[in-house]
Amino acid sequence: MKIGIIGTGNIGSNLARLFVAAGHEVVLSWSRSPEKLVRLSIELGNHKRAKAASVLEATQDVDISILSIRFMIMDEIKKQMGDVTGKIIVDTNNPYDIKLPTGVSAAAEVCRRLKGIRIVKAFNSLRHTSLLTCSHTDPLTISPLCSDDDNAKELVKTVITSIGYDPFDLGGLENVFLQEPGGPFYNIELSRQRAEKLKQND
Ligand SMILES: NC(=O)c1ccc[n+]([C@@H]2O[C@H](COP(=O)([O-])OP(=O)(O)OC[C@H]3O[C@@H](n4cnc5c(N)ncnc54)[C@H](OP(=O)(O)O)[C@@H]3O)[C@@H](O)[C@H]2O)c1
Repeated sequence: MKIGIIGTGNIGSNLARLFVAAGHEVVLSWSRSPEKLVRLSIELGNHKRAKAASVLEATQDVDISILSIRFMIMDEIKKQMGDVTGKIIVDTNNPYDIKLPTGVSAAAEVCRRLKGIRIVKAFNSLRHTSLLTCSHTDPLTISPLCSDDDNAKELVKTVITSIGYDPFDLGGLENVFLQEPGGPFYNIELSRQRAEKLKQND
C-alpha cells in the first residue's frame, strides 16, 4: 500500500518505520525542517520505499494518509492538502493543544475541519515510546480503531495487521471516546484477552 504521512513527529516517523519494514511505500510530509524529512527518507530507503514530499502529495497520491500533527497547525495543513473529499484519513491526534467543548471528540473536530474525509481513528492510543517495541509481541498488542466507514476501517485493519498489531474494533465514531484521552483504551498497551475484559466492564 502507498501511505501518506502528514506530520513526521514521534508518531508519524515511527509509523513510517513500521510501514516500510512491513513492505509498504511511504510519502513523508510536513516538518519545520525539510532536512529532517530527507534524513528520514534516506533512513527508510530513499525513493524505493520512502520519499520526502509535499502535504499535497501525501494526501492525493496515496491509498491512505496518516494525519499526525498538532491541532494548532491543522488549518495550515488543511490548506496544503488539496481536496480531501473521499480521502481516507487516519487520525492519530489527541486534543492536548486545543480546548474542545465538552462531549466533542478530537475525531469530530478533525471531521469538522476536513469536511468530506473518510476518517478512521487509530494509532492515537499507543504511546510513541511503545510503538516500535510493541509490534509483533506474543500475544499481539491491540491497536484500537473506530470509524463510521466500514470499508475504510477494513483497509486500516489490514495495515495494522501488517505491522504486527492486532486491530481492535471499537465500532463507530460514537465510541471514539473509549480510545481518546480519558477513555479506558487510551495510553495503554493491551492483549486482546485483557482488552475484551476491559470492554465488557465498560
Ligand atoms: N507522542 C505520543 O506519545 C502520542 C501518542 C499518540 C498520539 N499522539 C498524538 O499524535 C499527534 C502527533 O504527535 P507527535 O508526538 O508525533 O507530535 P510531534 O512530534 O510534536 O509533531 C508532529 C508533527 O507536527 C509538527 N509540529 C509540532 N509542533 C509544531 C509547530 N509548533 N509548528 C509547526 N509544526 C509543528 C512536527 O513538525 P517538526 O518535524 O517540525 O517537529 C511534526 O511534523 C498529536 O496530535 C498527539 O497528540 C501522540
